[in-house]
Amino acid sequence: MKKCRVCKRRAIVYMPHHRLALCREHFTEWFENYTKKTIKEFRMFTKDDRILVAVSGGKDSLALWKVLRKLGYNADGLYVHLGIGEYSERSREKVEKFAESLDARLIVVDLKEQLAELPNIVGLTSREACSVCGLVKRYNFNKVAKEEGYNVVATGHNLDDEASALLANVLNWNEKYLGRKFPVLEEEGGFVRKVKPFCKLTEKETALYALLEGIDFIEEECPYSEDATSVFYKEILNKIEERSPGTKLRFYLDYLRKVYPKFKTEDKKELGRCKVCGEPTMGEVCGVCRLKERLTPSAR
Ligand code: AMP
Ligand code: FES
Ligand code: ZN
Ligand code: ZN
Repeated sequence: MKKCRVCKRRAIVYMPHHRLALCREHFTEWFENYTKKTIKEFRMFTKDDRILVAVSGGKDSLALWKVLRKLGYNADGLYVHLGIGEYSERSREKVEKFAESLDARLIVVDLKEQLAELPNIVGLTSREACSVCGLVKRYNFNKVAKEEGYNVVATGHNLDDEASALLANVLNWNEKYLGRKFPVLEEEGGFVRKVKPFCKLTEKETALYALLEGIDFIEEECPYSEDATSVFYKEILNKIEERSPGTKLRFYLDYLRKVYPKFKTEDKKELGRCKVCGEPTMGEVCGVCRLKERLTPSAR
């Protein structure tokens, strides 16, 4: 067994892509410092910013909330209660308990009150559940942040999320994607700043951190996540990573450094405002308000 690079005691983890073995105590310390460095590297935010952490109840977002508070940032939580049966109820419980343990403010948006429960909305459209879900979540992250005076929204996306999405979009040569994804998107065109402080940490690393910190997160997947595509790309990347450690991180970081600047678009500046709710949109009425019209046609 390898020894911890810092204290030479028995290591509990070896990260080949960093050529780094660490014991329990020094892994936690490393993880928090690495997050701090990523925040500084991409100039995500400072201690003067008001950060809203979007928390799903999963390991990544709860770990992120904890790390940000430990590092002394001003970070509160936002949970969007989607109404996906028991799954949402259990996630909500985990998030509420966690907020209590942090003694932090948690904002809960109940989709049922705003529109309807997600399964009922999905029934109205031809779009896939995850796409509707993404739309209502992004809408609420932005809207709630502005209403409640937060200037930054942070999500728990990790390296596996970002690299697998990148791979899928490269395989389709989706140029729009290549110009849009960056771990910090500045405030622009009615959107608050969006950041992903775990973008350089793998899913294994965030899971280990959550476990060591004793975070009680929801392990089950959303019942709609049958879409195996992203899981499939994550598996492929892990196979490549096994053969040549460091590929995943390099693939993502070289994209940020070499590809993103070439494809970067300014299309957000051209966005208008929804005439119903005032949120940014390409058309006259935003996607969420259009859903609302379908649910209550007489409201218009
Ligand atoms: P996902 O798209 O489910 O992989 O989630 C990506 C990130 O979005 C998570 O790390 C959270 O930061 C955020 N998120 C997902 N679901 C919710 C939710 N119901 N409420 C608030 N934030 C969420
Ligand atoms: Fe959004 Fe599953 S959490 S569709
Ligand atoms: Zn050690
Ligand atoms: Zn609207």
